[in-house]
Amino acid sequence: MECIETVNDGECILIKGPANIEVKEGKVKVLGGTFNAGERIVIPKGKALPLKACTPTTLKIMSSSIERIKEDIPSQWRIAVEELDKAEKPVVVLVIGGVDTGKTTLTTLLGNMALERGLRVAIVDADVGQSDIGPPCFVAMGLLNHPVSDMSKVELKDAYFIGSTTPSAYPHRMIAGVKLMVERALMLGSEVVLIDTPGWISGFRARDLNVALVYVLQPSMIIALQNGNEAEGILKAFSSSETRVIRLPALASCKRDRETRKFLRETAYRRHLSGSINVELDIDRVSVVYTTLFSGSILNSDDKRKISEVLGINPVYAEASFDTLTLILPSDVDVTREKIEALRLLFKGRELHLLRETSLENILVALLDRKNMYLGVGILKKLDYAARKMVIYTPVSPDKIATVLFGSVKVVENGEEIGSIRYGY
Ligand SMILES: Nc1ncnc2c1ncn2[C@@H]1O[C@H](COP(=O)(O)OP(=O)(O)OP(=O)(O)O)[C@@H](O)[C@H]1O
Ligand SMILES: [Mg+2]
Repeated sequence: MECIETVNDGECILIKGPANIEVKEGKVKVLGGTFNAGERIVIPKGKALPLKACTPTTLKIMSSSIERIKEDIPSQWRIAVEELDKAEKPVVVLVIGGVDTGKTTLTTLLGNMALERGLRVAIVDADVGQSDIGPPCFVAMGLLNHPVSDMSKVELKDAYFIGSTTPSAYPHRMIAGVKLMVERALMLGSEVVLIDTPGWISGFRARDLNVALVYVLQPSMIIALQNGNEAEGILKAFSSSETRVIRLPALASCKRDRETRKFLRETAYRRHLSGSINVELDIDRVSVVYTTLFSGSILNSDDKRKISEVLGINPVYAEASFDTLTLILPSDVDVTREKIEALRLLFKGRELHLLRETSLENILVALLDRKNMYLGVGILKKLDYAARKMVIYTPVSPDKIATVLFGSVKVVENGEEIGSIRYGY
């Protein structure tokens, strides 16, 4: 529904996506960024944005939901803006909180405010499940060159592959990724580095990750968004230290359901896969990582025969390294636990990794160049064990690819998530 809305100086409205807004006259503030007459603001489906008029303003709005609200952002959030202003630069800020507490909204606000003050701002998006800057499954970093209404407008500068949309799957990669992205942002001369995190704060393992992030990053401040006291289990770890903690109320937000989250992820995969084609890579000319596959030597016929005898089937592919035995089994036959135990005994001292022939199809992969730098994302379409070739659907030029990292999520060309895979046995 299209309408012309007049908003008086100081008045606020909340617009739900999908929405398209054109500032016809006047100017509005959106999360600390100024949008003047002639500028457009797009709100994706599943997100909502508060606008505050700075002068009497006329807006042309296409949206099914426009609501007058008292304040555009919680008044207490100003404390965070003031603290950021006062902080010695460069400043690293870690924003934590549960799901849907407003972490991304606050990060965007702080980024826009700092940019308006002429500071060089970087955002590290560590929300691997609801990625805005990079593809899902990555910790990404972007530099803020202009005010943004939505974090997905921040241009991607670098990314680190986690391989899953849940940080709990690979917390060690999360720590490495966030640390590396912050370091790179500082190396690029950023004066303000804001880290948006996933909403994983409850339970022992979540506390562990968040505390480790603080120890390794040594942020100038932690901002915790809470509905009640849900982040206190993490914050308690710093009650006796000099670490600066700012507690703020969560946004009284519209919650996103599972379907909306999935939709937003799929949109993000599609964006980063746009322009993809199938490219063929020679397995022996690239490094293949986050799998034990292709890290050793193909088994000799004697060992292969022993495996076939124990399992009662011929593996599609068998490979051993000093510490691992990796077998690709046909997809349509079952192998009993007893047989696997017998195999374990036969290759004692080696970790056994079993995969089905089709289980690696459509896994999300990350592509790195010769300096181990992020090139882009792709989907593994085909593995030809005999010809030692793999086909990857990606926008990245194949001659640049030095390393392929295997992820745990399965995605198809239109961005749809179709499942996941667990490595190892
Ligand atoms: N002033 C506001 N009032 C109500 N809702 C708002 C307001 N500002 C933003 N929102 C919406 O609230 C929702 C949650 O905010 P946000 O995305 O910042 O939370 P989050 O903690 O980052 O969530 P996630 O855990 O999914 O990353 C979003 O849909 C956002 O668009
Ligand atoms: Mg978020």
